[in-house]
Amino acid sequence: MLFRKSGLLLVAVVVFVSGLNVSCSGRPVEKEASISCPLGTVAGAGERIETVRGRVNFNAGWRFVKEDVKNAQAFDLDDSKWRELNVPHDWAIEGPFTKEVSFEGGYLPYPGVGWYRKAFTIPSGAECVRVEFDGVMRDARVWLNGEYIGGWPYGYSSFSFDLTEHVRRGQKNVLAVRVENENESSRWYPGSGIYRNVWLTLTNPVHVEQWGTFITADRISDKSAFVNVRTQIQNQNQQGRDVVLETIIYDAKGKHVAANTARKRVGKKASKEFKQELKVLDPVRWDINNPYLYKAVSNVKVDGEIVDRYETKFGIRTLRFDAEEGFFLNDRSVKIKGVNLHHGLGPFGVAFSRRAAERQLEIMKEMGCNAIRTAHNPPAPEQIELCDELGVLVMDETFDEWKKPKVENAYHKLFDEWAEKDTRALLRRDRNHPSIFLWSIGNEIRELGTGQGKKNAKMFAEICREMDPTRPVISGIHLTIKLDKELADFFGVLGLNYWQDRYEKIHEEFGNKPLLSTESSAVVSTRGEYHFPVKRVPGGYRDKSLQISSYDIANCGFGDLPDVEFKLQEEYRWLMGEFVWSGFDYHGEPDPYEDMWPAHSSYFGIVDMCGFKKDRFYLYQSQWTDEPMIHLLPHWNWGGREGEVTPVYCYTNCAWAQLFVNGKSLGKKEKKAGQYRLKWNDVVYQPGSIKVVGYDDEGKVLCEKEIRTAGKPYKIELVADRETIAADGEDVCFVTVRIVDKKGRLCPEADNLVRFKIEGNGEVACVGNGNPISHESYQAQQRKAFHGLCLAVVRSTKQGGDIRLTANSKGLGVGQILLQTKGH
Ligand code: GAL
Repeated sequence: MLFRKSGLLLVAVVVFVSGLNVSCSGRPVEKEASISCPLGTVAGAGERIETVRGRVNFNAGWRFVKEDVKNAQAFDLDDSKWRELNVPHDWAIEGPFTKEVSFEGGYLPYPGVGWYRKAFTIPSGAECVRVEFDGVMRDARVWLNGEYIGGWPYGYSSFSFDLTEHVRRGQKNVLAVRVENENESSRWYPGSGIYRNVWLTLTNPVHVEQWGTFITADRISDKSAFVNVRTQIQNQNQQGRDVVLETIIYDAKGKHVAANTARKRVGKKASKEFKQELKVLDPVRWDINNPYLYKAVSNVKVDGEIVDRYETKFGIRTLRFDAEEGFFLNDRSVKIKGVNLHHGLGPFGVAFSRRAAERQLEIMKEMGCNAIRTAHNPPAPEQIELCDELGVLVMDETFDEWKKPKVENAYHKLFDEWAEKDTRALLRRDRNHPSIFLWSIGNEIRELGTGQGKKNAKMFAEICREMDPTRPVISGIHLTIKLDKELADFFGVLGLNYWQDRYEKIHEEFGNKPLLSTESSAVVSTRGEYHFPVKRVPGGYRDKSLQISSYDIANCGFGDLPDVEFKLQEEYRWLMGEFVWSGFDYHGEPDPYEDMWPAHSSYFGIVDMCGFKKDRFYLYQSQWTDEPMIHLLPHWNWGGREGEVTPVYCYTNCAWAQLFVNGKSLGKKEKKAGQYRLKWNDVVYQPGSIKVVGYDDEGKVLCEKEIRTAGKPYKIELVADRETIAADGEDVCFVTVRIVDKKGRLCPEADNLVRFKIEGNGEVACVGNGNPISHESYQAQQRKAFHGLCLAVVRSTKQGGDIRLTANSKGLGVGQILLQTKGH
């Protein structure tokens, strides 16, 4: 119950997300009961959510200035000249690129101080009020009406503050947030600002705490499963209360499948845990092939009235880790085909977009990927929700550094005061997600092998086991760490970064430990770029173009080719699988062109910064999927190289493939065991066509792929990932811009400048092209193509209707696409 009026307890509350009006159920919306947001609504038009708990999206209508303003927390500061914006927001992606920022930071201007302010009012009857930040990069400090409320320095942690005692009901309030980020605060681009969602939660004084449920299941069989629900209930009243907790489990169709009622007295200003066991019959398992979710609803009752209703999604599934047999999900052996993902979302910078995160996962799944590692920090909560929904396993990670520094201003500065709090915050937030199968307490922790390191490993492992005994603890261990029994015993699974030369030895030495390659490969390449002669360069790739050939044979010294890891994974049943470094390119760490301006983003991605697939995508797909596929490289536009040797590689999961060059067969090749790509190394370039055909063992054609020499750039083609998106001001459509010849063939060298115009109910949110050395702005209405492609991301407004995106380029005419947005 949220409101108390004239001594009367009003039971249910209606939250109008639109207009953000909060009122009592069954009554007209009251004037004073409004939470005003200058920029209007955020999460949907006209939607009424009946609930006793109000959770409103608090993203809209912030004022922002990127400088340190004295006393900017003051209630009556005039911020009318500050920029008005909605969060999530990443100030650094706005550029410009500058050498003053470290190359690890992608030369993007993330260091500095920024202030955000937001004015709002809440109903006069509102009781408990909490503001929740999913993540602020970095060193957030929060004031309400000039009064300091608290801060949270680690930019990846979700945190919240109770405003109950401070908020002015029925009057204007001003929330002020100061953000400060230092240069070299990370080994990759961290971004800056309020870059994830913000929420305001209103509850009755008796309520389930934030992240207050912990749900596990055991004794799982086809017939039944026992679901254990622990619920932390808080009573913020001045008197104790007799509390009844009714927990109901619903299946994915919304059918009530189990219930349990428990009673306890919760003392004044106190919190108490309720423990319940519920039996679910014929449980449907959450699995990567069937991500089935149940929902537990916690109804909290006082004096017969429901005062809180809290929902928790969860899954029923078993995990088994076996030192000899690897990993089992629901008793089925599953090899981890995983990728490491940083938190950045390409042209968005780090500003969180649910659709951008979903698209990342969709692309990875298309490749056959079944797991992600949140390298190397707590992810956005929605990313884990998406993994639950899409059936992707997650290795959830806390830190890239403990006490021993890697870069000057990173986590070591926070460690003593915050490491435990950050770890607990992550586990408490994420432990109900069925997709999470491992807790990682850190990546390549420098001091791990030392006495101090072991002490801290023990501390973290104990926290994890105390907070969640159901999942093993792991760490991405650097290949130089001295791994001994004492250290290994802190972990349930040994996570090895680039130990490919020593798997067997480690397996022999630590025979009781399952092994997982937490980082593998580290191959580098640029989409669409091919260099000749094709040769493996020992000790690092260097080219004056600052690009890297996409024949997929260049890896960083510590890594190795995907082929090597594939073979080892096939050979050793006891290896649980791998997490490739990395799924997507990211800003910062432009290895091997570190410190070589203008190279600003990584080359490690299997997919580039815009989500365009590099050749490597198909190499993994050929190993990780069964649906017949075939891919060949390079492109076939080598004007000036006529008569020169131009090797052709084919990636396929077919048993055989045959290459045709200008219609003439260059022979069939068998994909023998332990061979992961088919190569025709002596092909001589002449314009025309190259084509590969894939066959099964009986000679039946399964698939084929042809590349023809393209003519001159002729026109622009626009291809949208979805043609209808939600009219919510947040949903986005990814429009791929292709520069093609007269016959519609992609021009692989085209770099034409494309200008965008938008009409209707949308805006160009950002643009990109995946070129790691381009310093063009992501926040522009134009972009040069890179190897024939660029990207425009179109965002909806809250008005449903049509959007017309027009792209034009000198000499190429105009390309157009019509998109639709619909109310939701
Ligand atoms: C690893 C590290 C990753 C990334 C990768 C490629 O050692 O854990 O974060 O830096 O190397 O350079």
